[in-house]
Amino acid sequence: MAKPVARPGATLLLLVGIGALAKCGGPAQDDRRRQLAWTAAALPRGPHELLTSSHTATTVTTATATSPIDAAAGVSATARRALSGSARRPPPASAQPSEALCTYNSLWLPKLVVPAHYDLFLNVSFNPNPPDEEPLSPPPTKPSPKFVYSAANLTKGLGPEAVVGNVSIHVALGAPTRCIVLHAAGMRLAGARYEYGGAAWPGAVEKAGGPGAKDYLMVVIRFRSALPATAVGSVGRLSLSFAYHLVDGVDGLYRSVYTDKSGRAHAVASTQLESIAARKAFPCFDEPALKATFNYTLVTPAGLTVLGNTDKLASRPLPGSRLLTAFRPTPKMSPYLVAWVVGRLASANTTCEVSPPGAPLPLAMYATPDQ
Ligand SMILES: *[C@@H]1O[C@H](CO)[C@@H](O)[C@H](O)[C@H]1NC(C)=O
Ligand SMILES: *[C@@H]1O[C@H](CO)[C@@H](O)[C@H](O)[C@H]1NC(C)=O
Ligand SMILES: *[C@@H]1O[C@H](CO)[C@@H](O)[C@H](O)[C@H]1NC(C)=O
Ligand SMILES: *[C@@H]1O[C@H](CO)[C@@H](O)[C@H](O)[C@H]1NC(C)=O
Ligand SMILES: *[C@@H]1O[C@H](CO)[C@@H](O)[C@H](O)[C@H]1NC(C)=O
Repeated sequence: MAKPVARPGATLLLLVGIGALAKCGGPAQDDRRRQLAWTAAALPRGPHELLTSSHTATTVTTATATSPIDAAAGVSATARRALSGSARRPPPASAQPSEALCTYNSLWLPKLVVPAHYDLFLNVSFNPNPPDEEPLSPPPTKPSPKFVYSAANLTKGLGPEAVVGNVSIHVALGAPTRCIVLHAAGMRLAGARYEYGGAAWPGAVEKAGGPGAKDYLMVVIRFRSALPATAVGSVGRLSLSFAYHLVDGVDGLYRSVYTDKSGRAHAVASTQLESIAARKAFPCFDEPALKATFNYTLVTPAGLTVLGNTDKLASRPLPGSRLLTAFRPTPKMSPYLVAWVVGRLASANTTCEVSPPGAPLPLAMYATPDQ
């Protein structure tokens, strides 16, 4: 275990819930402090680091979340139980290495494809001042079971409360393969494409394991010809566009609503990706061991606080009352550690003594303004 180490110039960002305007000292805060300090130690050096954990992000919003999980996007209890265990990953079923992943149907991802980095773009749309606390549910249209979407119909009928994004994942391929398997749940996918060594392969999205297979919340991207194994030290890029309804839930990237003292409702979009809900927020290799760095950019309604794991790199207004926020690269980490919060929040700043004695760590706390 890494020892908590104070580092000059680092800032911890703490999201506080229900009346818990934490001071740095005091026995009640010791556990949380230790946890934060420990996590901070895992972050790279920087003049100003922001830290959100999916746990703390939840404290902001769970008190007011009002609706059940989006059933369509829900993670089956069986899959959840199985995945939170510590089962070992099997080697990919082989025979024909290049075809083996096309019918993949196993609880763990094949080891053939190793992610190194994610470039993520998410355009998150919601009404920051909903008329009331009524939960948002997706319209009754069922997602296409065949995953057949194109750029033209990816967002068709999604409505105004939605997440539309794209991801480009740097991956190393251990052997030639016609298919890549990764996690995605409750979202539409389109525009699959792989690029390597100056060549490009368009891909088609299919349900992992084919019709009737167990639902491990994975998809298979099938290419017309085999992708070559990547050379040692180099990566290919797997790109996908995705879209889903932003609904009130308990995991993934979801909306919740709080009411201020004057009775006005405010919506907050935030993440809870542990343990297996990163796949509900963006397509990814959603296993703790498959660590990667993340560069992400969020487009959100203007006038809200936008927080991520790291400090902001850029923030600029876009037409139509939108705000673009780009964040510094994260450390290498599991996908479930990605954390975002978008909403009307107030902040208070303090510093935190950590052991061994060193420069106090700046601590920024965010909460709903009435707290
Ligand atoms: C984000 O989504 C909004 C609402 O659909 C749209 O008006 C806007 O053009 C999108 N912005 C970007 C940069 O994709
Ligand atoms: C989206 O467009 C593609 C390409 O035109 C088509 O094959 C597919 O059926 C459409 N999907 C839906 C859900 O409308
Ligand atoms: C996502 O799309 C935007 C505009 O459509 C583009 O500028 C950006 O490079 C894309 N990002 C990724 C990660 O593919
Ligand atoms: C991530 O973003 C940083 C800062 O913009 C950039 O320097 C870096 O090259 C990006 N990483 C990758 C792998 O593209
Ligand atoms: C606290 O610090 C954060 C990050 O440095 C800053 O964005 C915020 O405005 C500060 N809040 C206050 C109340 O000073």
